[in-house]
Amino acid sequence: MSSTPARPPRPSSETNGEPDVRNSPLEVRPPTADALCIETPLASLETPVTPTSHFFVRNHFAVPHIELEHWRLAIEGEVDHPLLLTFEDLRALPHQPLRALLECAGNSRSSVRPHPEGVLWRNGAVSTAEWAGIPLRGLLERAGVRPGSVEVLFEGLDHGKEPGIDKEISYAMSITLEKAMDPATILADEMNGAPLAPRHGFPVRAIVPGWYGMASVKWLSRIVVLRQPFQGYFRTRAYAIIPEGEGADAPHRPVTAVRVKSLVTWPKEGSVLVVGDHRIRGVAWSGAGRITRVEVSVGGLKESLEEETWHPAELHAADSDHAWAHWEHRRKISRPGFYVIRARATDEKGNVQPIEAKWNFRGLANNSVHQVPVEFRRGSSTTEPGRTE
Ligand code: MTE
Repeated sequence: MSSTPARPPRPSSETNGEPDVRNSPLEVRPPTADALCIETPLASLETPVTPTSHFFVRNHFAVPHIELEHWRLAIEGEVDHPLLLTFEDLRALPHQPLRALLECAGNSRSSVRPHPEGVLWRNGAVSTAEWAGIPLRGLLERAGVRPGSVEVLFEGLDHGKEPGIDKEISYAMSITLEKAMDPATILADEMNGAPLAPRHGFPVRAIVPGWYGMASVKWLSRIVVLRQPFQGYFRTRAYAIIPEGEGADAPHRPVTAVRVKSLVTWPKEGSVLVVGDHRIRGVAWSGAGRITRVEVSVGGLKESLEEETWHPAELHAADSDHAWAHWEHRRKISRPGFYVIRARATDEKGNVQPIEAKWNFRGLANNSVHQVPVEFRRGSSTTEPGRTE
């Protein structure tokens, strides 16, 4: 299932004659042979929901083979009434729809310097889907969470070796009990109106909106209520902020909520465009709440970042608290030359994107401003996508 997707050659002035890969998912080299890492092309972020065929994929290990009749979900640990559920049991429970974005915590790692450990994602490890599933809260209440519990662990059926780890491990990740009881946290068995695809977690996965994608565990087999924080590799090492100089015995800082971020979806990096009126477009999101402002700057390359002038973009409100908002900025570019287009978002809590990423060992949660170099030339073409007619 992991063949490299076809990239149809489609010359366009927007990409300066290069094959146009805007609408083909892009495979990124994973650290182990069994893993699968596929980015969503930025042009595919322009729709409210990402088609499943273009939704990014981040699998640490091979997709497990699951036979539905033998599959069970256990809910156990610090509970009074452990549950063992079949797929039919879950299908029979009331479902809730949830339009939610997932962003991998390693997204945009390739722009962090020096290059950190991990998959060198560009900016396409983010997508939005229309999920449907069962609120986790109801199941935990049925199981009876014991007082003193602090976290809920999700365990997937996939397993294998990670770089630097000499034994096989399963994919396992915990969230706080508070987040598990959030009415928006669901066990999803539908994605974009269909059963989950195998690569996205069939038959059932967690969707933890507002947190980075590592918490939305796929191919769920066990949910364990814990009295102590989980100390497993994925929580304390793979998805933890480790600053430079930190000792191995320092307290862990697991990545949780998605930081405020925006991406320019048009124009594409490296485009050669014709001077004139343009609609610069993009998306923005935050795990801390709605986006309240996006600003755009179109600077000359010689301009310093501090001198840059930010102009407000027009914001199209997101139709879900957990999805992205689209924005656009109409701008007349009269002078031919080399420019960098930048966008920065602010959320309702007042969080603003930084210009530069703050380095950490795994380059996680990079929400620094997206910087898109483009060239504007004189010309007569009126067929540029995004040009105001
Ligand atoms: N769940 C399991 N069981 N195994 C995994 O490798 N990857 C996690 C998460 N859930 C993963 C998993 C990470 S890091 C991310 S970003 C999301 O799944 C990606 O979900 P997607 O592949 O459906 O986009």
